[in-house]
Amino acid sequence: MCKRLAFDEGTDSVSPMTSVLPSTEWWRSAVIYQIYPRSFADSNGDGMGDLLGIRDRLTALTELGVDAVWLSPFNTSPQNDAGYDVADYCDVDPLFGTLNDFDSMTSRAHELGLRVIVDLVPNHSSSEHRWFQEALAAPPGSPERDRYIFRDGLGENGELPPNNWDSVFGGRAWTRTENPNGSAGQWYLHLFDSTQPDFDWDNPWVRRQFEDVLRFWLDRGVDGFRVDVAHGMIKADGLPDWTPSSAGGSMGGAGTAAGADVSEAAAADARAAARAPFWAQEGVHEIYREWRKVLDSYDGERILAAEAWVDPLIDMAKWVRPDEMHQAFNFPYLETPWDAAQLRTVIDASINAFSEVEAPSTWVLSNHDVVRHASRLALTAENPQGHGIGPESAGLPIPELGLRRARAASALMLALPGSAYIYQGEELGLPEVIALPDDARQDPTWFRTNGERYGRDGCRVPIPWEADSPAYGFGPSDAAWLPQPADWAPLARDAQRGVEGSTLTMYTLALALRRAHDLGDGELEWLDAGAETVLALRNGDVLVYANTGASAVVLPAGEVLLSSGPLGDAELPADTTVWLRG
Ligand code: GLC
Repeated sequence: MCKRLAFDEGTDSVSPMTSVLPSTEWWRSAVIYQIYPRSFADSNGDGMGDLLGIRDRLTALTELGVDAVWLSPFNTSPQNDAGYDVADYCDVDPLFGTLNDFDSMTSRAHELGLRVIVDLVPNHSSSEHRWFQEALAAPPGSPERDRYIFRDGLGENGELPPNNWDSVFGGRAWTRTENPNGSAGQWYLHLFDSTQPDFDWDNPWVRRQFEDVLRFWLDRGVDGFRVDVAHGMIKADGLPDWTPSSAGGSMGGAGTAAGADVSEAAAADARAAARAPFWAQEGVHEIYREWRKVLDSYDGERILAAEAWVDPLIDMAKWVRPDEMHQAFNFPYLETPWDAAQLRTVIDASINAFSEVEAPSTWVLSNHDVVRHASRLALTAENPQGHGIGPESAGLPIPELGLRRARAASALMLALPGSAYIYQGEELGLPEVIALPDDARQDPTWFRTNGERYGRDGCRVPIPWEADSPAYGFGPSDAAWLPQPADWAPLARDAQRGVEGSTLTMYTLALALRRAHDLGDGELEWLDAGAETVLALRNGDVLVYANTGASAVVLPAGEVLLSSGPLGDAELPADTTVWLRG
C-alpha cells in the first residue's frame, strides 16, 4: 500500500502539487520528450543519471521547445531490467535520488511550463517486491500467491512448465520456485525476465493496489503516466499453449492478415484469435476505463499513454477510445522503413484509425527499446525489435546515410498533426552505439540469449552535453554507466547549440515552426509529389516534401522554412525533407 500525501516527511518537503498548467487538451498536439533517467544527466558523479541531474538540465528542453517530459522508471528497483523491475512503486531508488528530489524536479518542470509524465509498470513487479516475497513465502492457493500467476507444473512431478510460452527476452516464460523445505515447488509466469513476475490482474487486490499507486503520483502533481506493456496485463483463460507465427514481433504486433473478402468485424475476430494469449486481450480495457475515472477526478488534464504493441492500427485504436487512454505509441509508424509509399500508407492508416475514436495520432521514431533511428533507417538487414545491433550484426548502417535519413524522417514527423515523441539524444543526431564491449552490456536480453541478441544497451548510452568535459558533461566526473564513444564530441549539445545546419538547430527550428504554424492541431492533405519516392503534403500553411529516394528531384518553388540537409540549386537532394511556406 502506498503512503499517500506523504508531504510531511522531510524538513525540506514541498507542498502537494496540482497541475498548474493551462488545460486545453494539450496532449492532442504535444511534443513529449522521453528522458531515460539513467542516461540523461548525473548530478553526483556516480556515473548514473538522477533526478537532480534532470532538474538542473531542464532548461535545455524548454530551449528545444518541447511541451512535456516522460521519465522512464526511477522507482526502487534492483535494476535487472534498468528499472522496469519495480520493487516499490511509491518510492525513488537511491540511485536516482529521493521523493523530495522528485518533487523538486517536478516543481522546476512546472515552473518552466513542462508537464511531467512518469512510467508505470503494472504488468509485473520485481521479484524483490515485498508482494512477491510474501507470495513465495506463502503456500500454493494462498491469497498472497494469487497476486501473481503461480501454477503447478506439468509432468509426473510438476517438472515441466505449465505451458509453452516464451519470455520476450528469450528463454521460457516460467520459473520454478523452491519450497521452504528445499523441494521444487510451483512455477510462476514472467513474460520478461525471471526477476519480473507477472501480476494476476484478474485479482481485485492487484487492481486496488495500482489505484493507490496512481493516486500517489497524481497527488504529487504528475501530469500523466506512460503505461508499460499496456497490452499484456490480462492473459487468456486457461493460459493455453501458443506457437508464434513468424509475422509478429516478440512484443506482439502483427497477427495474421485477414483476407480482403471478409467483413471488418470478422477480420478483427480472426486477428484476435491469432494473437498470443498474453497480448491484447479484451479484458485490459476494463482496467483502463477504471484508471481513466481516477485521472479525471483530478484537476488539470492528466493523461494515460499506452505502450501497446498492437497491429494493425485499427486494433491499437481501442486503447484510446474516449473513456480509456489518451494516447498510444504509434509503433507501426516507428517500424516503417524510409520509403515514401509505405510512409504514406501508415500515416493515412494512423490518422484514420485514431480519428475513428476521436484520438490524436502519435508519432515516434526512437525510444529506449529500439535501435536509434539515426542507425536503424540505414540498416540493410532485418533487425527485429529488441535484438539490437553490435559489432557482428549483419547489414550495419553507413553512419552518414543514417544521420541524413534520420534528420529527414524527424523533419517529416514533426510536421504531422497529432502528438510527437522525441527520445533523448535524437535531437543531437546520436547513433546507436554499436561497439559496446560485451562486458559492459546490461540488457537482460543479452544474458538470456547468451549473447545471440545484443539487446537495447546501444540506444541507452549517457548523452553528451559538453564536447570538452569529462563524460561529455553527463556528470561532474568521468563516470558513465555505459561507456560513451570516443568520437561524440561533435555531437555534444554545446557543440551544436546555435550552429547553423546542426541537428539540434534543425529540431529547435522545427519545434518553433510547428508551434507557430499550429501543425500539431492541423490537418494533413496529400499533394501530388511528382515522383514516387517523394512524399508531399500540406499541413495548414506549410508544405512538406520528403525525398526518400536515392537521387535528387526538382525542388518546388517557395520560401524555405526548414530543411533537414543542404539543398541543391533548385533541387531536393536524396534523403532530405524541406518545409516551404504554402
Ligand atoms: C517495456 C519497456 C521495456 C521493458 C519491458 C518490460 O517494453 O519499454 O524497456 O524491458 O517493458 O518491462
